[in-house]
Amino acid sequence: MLRAYGNNTVIEMTDRYYETIATGYDQLHKAEQQRKVEFVLSLIELKKYKTVLDVGSGTGLSRLMGNTVGLDSSFEMLAKGNGVRVCAYAEKLPFKSNSFDLVTSFTAIQNFTNVIKALKEIKRVCKKTCVMSILKKSEKLPDLKKKIQSQFVGEFYDQGVDIVFISLARRS
Ligand SMILES: C[S@@+](CC[C@H](N)C(=O)[O-])C[C@H]1O[C@@H](n2cnc3c(N)ncnc32)[C@H](O)[C@@H]1O
Repeated sequence: MLRAYGNNTVIEMTDRYYETIATGYDQLHKAEQQRKVEFVLSLIELKKYKTVLDVGSGTGLSRLMGNTVGLDSSFEMLAKGNGVRVCAYAEKLPFKSNSFDLVTSFTAIQNFTNVIKALKEIKRVCKKTCVMSILKKSEKLPDLKKKIQSQFVGEFYDQGVDIVFISLARRS
């Protein structure tokens, strides 16, 4: 697994919460996260995409395809998963521009320290479509929706537990 933390300033942003719950995460959240994945798969045509990045991937429950690159700031969460995993921050993605056909982020955006910075990074590395889900019960939901709309044009869908955003275009 690659650790791509930028510098000490970025390390200070780490939320240690997920490191403490990594062991029991799948048992608690597997069924719920899988329902979100299935919902997204009913809305997009996955075969159109060859390269996929999942930002805030945690243990990998939200991976849409076998070759999805999982990126998370918690080494402990990533360590519970498998496949290609990168330990880094959404706010500073260690990838070239337009590296991924599809970028996903399931139930993670409300945890990002600097949401606009993270959205700009997602926009930069995403070549085609971006899918983001937000917990409906998050008090940050209205603000997060506005921030997403400031960077992307797209549609919001009600999944039940999360609101799912699917981008149609990027804003410049
Ligand atoms: C609720 S979990 C969701 C995990 C996974 N997407 C799923 O569906 O099971 C949120 C994840 O976001 C990660 N996270 C929080 N802030 C982050 C950041 N700034 N950059 C990358 N990942 C972050 C946490 O470590 C955690 O694994």
